[in-house]
Amino acid sequence: MIITSIDALRRRLLLSRMRGRTIGLVPTMGALHEGHLTLIARARAECKEVVVSIFVNPIQFNQPEDFAHYPRTLESDARQCSEAGVDVIFAPSAEEMYPVPLATFVDVPSLGEHLCGPHRPGHFRGVATVVMKLFQIVQPDFAYFGEKDAQQLAVIRRMVRDLNVPVEIVPVQTVREPDGLALSSRNRRLTAEERKIAPMLYRALGIAAEEGAEKAVEFLRSEPRIRLEYLEVVDPVDMQPVSGKERPVVIAIAAWIGNVRLIDNLLVPV
Ligand code: PAJ
Repeated sequence: MIITSIDALRRRLLLSRMRGRTIGLVPTMGALHEGHLTLIARARAECKEVVVSIFVNPIQFNQPEDFAHYPRTLESDARQCSEAGVDVIFAPSAEEMYPVPLATFVDVPSLGEHLCGPHRPGHFRGVATVVMKLFQIVQPDFAYFGEKDAQQLAVIRRMVRDLNVPVEIVPVQTVREPDGLALSSRNRRLTAEERKIAPMLYRALGIAAEEGAEKAVEFLRSEPRIRLEYLEVVDPVDMQPVSGKERPVVIAIAAWIGNVRLIDNLLVPV
């Protein structure tokens, strides 16, 4: 069932809650792929009522072209959701979510200082704000997020902790192509040639884990079509750079291949 209005969704979920059904939320921007479907399968296994939100959130895009070109495939998304046993798709319009420009935002600035933060000003504020709105609208017991977006996951966890949001955040491992490339809705914008070199990002993470970040950067320099934005070793909780032999760490990378920006990361455990 696709619901586009906040009121209608609240009415439907009120009934579920009265019946004691646990509610799981999987926030997405649509263009669903196996990565999203893995989050959905996890929610399906753990919750009675599974809500998938599909909303291309304008306030987290810092480039209008990126927002304009973001794939919108509601029909096939809805089909995949129904095959995956999703109970409700919440697909509001921008006017439904933002009837007036917001005067209130949720921001976790200390976690956005590094990695993607400086390259995408306002992005994590837009993410934290829309996710908080979704939490208020759906009031889920569990919410599912991919480790693929490690910094986003850290921001959401900190927001939930700081603001006492009564939801349990469930992290889900990154789903990859057989050659290691992390699934992303942006992959479909790569040309065939670019797609061939894209798994080098994941390989670079492996090299960084075993031989250090410098070797990984050197490896990426061997491919002129890859423009590295950052490769950083950070603490998984506060996302601050670490230098020594601390463990666990997250090695995070962002790079441009042609005009597609890809991110990936690897958790190096204790
Ligand atoms: P979107 O990019 O659609 O991703 C939705 C969820 O799917 C995120 O939690 C993301 O981490 C997860 N995901 C994406 N690719 C994955 C992969 N290869 N393996 C595992 N999980 C993967 O992230 C967003 O949307 C938005 O910022 C959102 C949280 C919905 C707020 O607008």
